[in-house]
Amino acid sequence: MYGIVNKAIEDLVKENFGEEKWDAIKERSGVDIDFFLSNEPYDDSVTYKLAQAAAEETGMTLESVLMAFGEWWVLRTSREKYGSLLQAGGSTMPQFLRNLPVFHNRIVLIYPKLTPPDFSTSNETETSIDIHYKSAREGLQPFVRGLLFGIAKLYEQQVTVELLQSRTTGASHEIFRVQWIS
Ligand code: HEM
Repeated sequence: MYGIVNKAIEDLVKENFGEEKWDAIKERSGVDIDFFLSNEPYDDSVTYKLAQAAAEETGMTLESVLMAFGEWWVLRTSREKYGSLLQAGGSTMPQFLRNLPVFHNRIVLIYPKLTPPDFSTSNETETSIDIHYKSAREGLQPFVRGLLFGIAKLYEQQVTVELLQSRTTGASHEIFRVQWIS
């Protein structure tokens, strides 16, 4: 994944736990890279090692690290670095979620070697939508859940997120049902 992802993990850790904790996480992860270049692609294993080491060093579960990272990615990284792109995603939360399938089309213009997630939607009602998530990458379901909560917070909308099916129980891909109060 592009360095911006690893850099965002670094920022999240440093802001919440301090520089020393980040140094310990880097050490524990075995990732021997002094600093991440946002526009440079790195092996996915770097990101997974950092997330795993962050869980071990903070005593959080890997799942909660990935969820926290999802929220951080929307509310801090995306908002601070790509605010206008985020705004272009929709003027309401339902609209943003409806547009999610095409969101990374623009990101590819900035990061040409991107391997984006594949989102689609179904079963839209006045107060809910099903988000289908397909990816060649494993284990990022909690990250997606965190992203969805981050999007809800961005629009100051209370939501529930229910995992309807998952690869972990044999399905072909994940489906998240996002429900809100209209
Ligand atoms: C302007 C904001 C955003 C930027 C710049 C951005 C950029 C990226 C980048 C660089 C990656 C790493 C993939 C790679 O390097 O091959 C990525 C992955 C990902 N992004 Fe975004 N993204 C943004 C917003 C979002 C939002 C709002 C969502 C909401 C659901 C999202 C969902 C994901 C997921 C799930 C992945 C993991 C890829 C996978 O599952 O295979 N991103 N994105």
